[in-house]
Amino acid sequence: SPGSATAVAHPNIALIKYWGKRDERLILPVTDSLSMTLDVFPTTTSVRLAAGAGPDEVTLNGRPAEGEAGRRITAFLDLVRQSAGRTERAVVDTRNTVPTGAGLASSASGFAALAVAAAAAYGLDLDATALSRLARRGSGSASRSLFGGFAVWHAGPEHGTDADADAGSYAEPVPTAALDPALVIAVVNAGPKPVSSREAMRRTVDTSPLYRPWAASSKDDLVEMRAALGRGDLTAVGEIAERNALGMHATMLAARPAVRYLSPATVTVLDRVLQLRQAGIAAYATMDAGPNVKVLCPRADAQRVADAVRDAAPDSTVLVAGPGPGARLSDE
Ligand code: DP6
Repeated sequence: SPGSATAVAHPNIALIKYWGKRDERLILPVTDSLSMTLDVFPTTTSVRLAAGAGPDEVTLNGRPAEGEAGRRITAFLDLVRQSAGRTERAVVDTRNTVPTGAGLASSASGFAALAVAAAAAYGLDLDATALSRLARRGSGSASRSLFGGFAVWHAGPEHGTDADADAGSYAEPVPTAALDPALVIAVVNAGPKPVSSREAMRRTVDTSPLYRPWAASSKDDLVEMRAALGRGDLTAVGEIAERNALGMHATMLAARPAVRYLSPATVTVLDRVLQLRQAGIAAYATMDAGPNVKVLCPRADAQRVADAVRDAAPDSTVLVAGPGPGARLSDE
């Protein structure tokens, strides 16, 4: 019914990372990034407009949202209300199956689902590009979860007005040749992060002498990544993704003070991934703002890779994901 909508979105894992903003208010990134949307850990969000004055009511996994999470959602709803020219408060219910704060990008699925549901509930008729731009305002990586499979998020024009930059910074699907990838996810520690990715990004851009060189090389990585996806070369895709991720972590290690998300278990898994490659399996690792390792490999090798990772890090939780769908409205 009008005034109420439910949406489902999945997380995405960046193969070319988003790390660093050039505008914090509009969430405009320094570099383009590219990701694969997953078929695991969906977020389901319903938004219902409510009569009367008072604050939004936001429930996250059955509990009232508190602190920073609640503030970000209300700020996002303010933006939707402003675009729609409406003033009703909202009742939001979010069910998130991602371990929050574990570097598995719950904010990507969360704000992608919220963007789709809130736009529908407030009567905004937005196309996929506009929804991607809207989701970006909640969390940068959410712009990519609007789309299934592989998506590229354009940083947008560097010069010009805020409106130009905002209009030019959206994600879209990336054309690929036949690929049959799996992503083996090793959750080595589902605890909260030492530093939020937002703060870590800011610190890296402001203080790391390695930041600009990484951003420059990331441009080249993106060009090569698109070509590798276009010819269906999963080995090249993995190679480029791994070096781009390690480079991103290098920028953080050189920040002042240093930001280190990688743990001993992370390094143990990385060693095992190297061994798998020496045994002829095209397995490559990527890590986000946390210690967990995501290993990209051919689907046919996924079980073997998962077993090897479990053996290397017995305390971790290992699961196999594949490419998943874009964000969409649901009847639920
Ligand atoms: C390391 O999208 O969570 O996962 O825009 O500040 O909300 P904000 O950041 P967020 O950062 C994701 C960083 C990353 C890399 C990536 O997903 O591209």
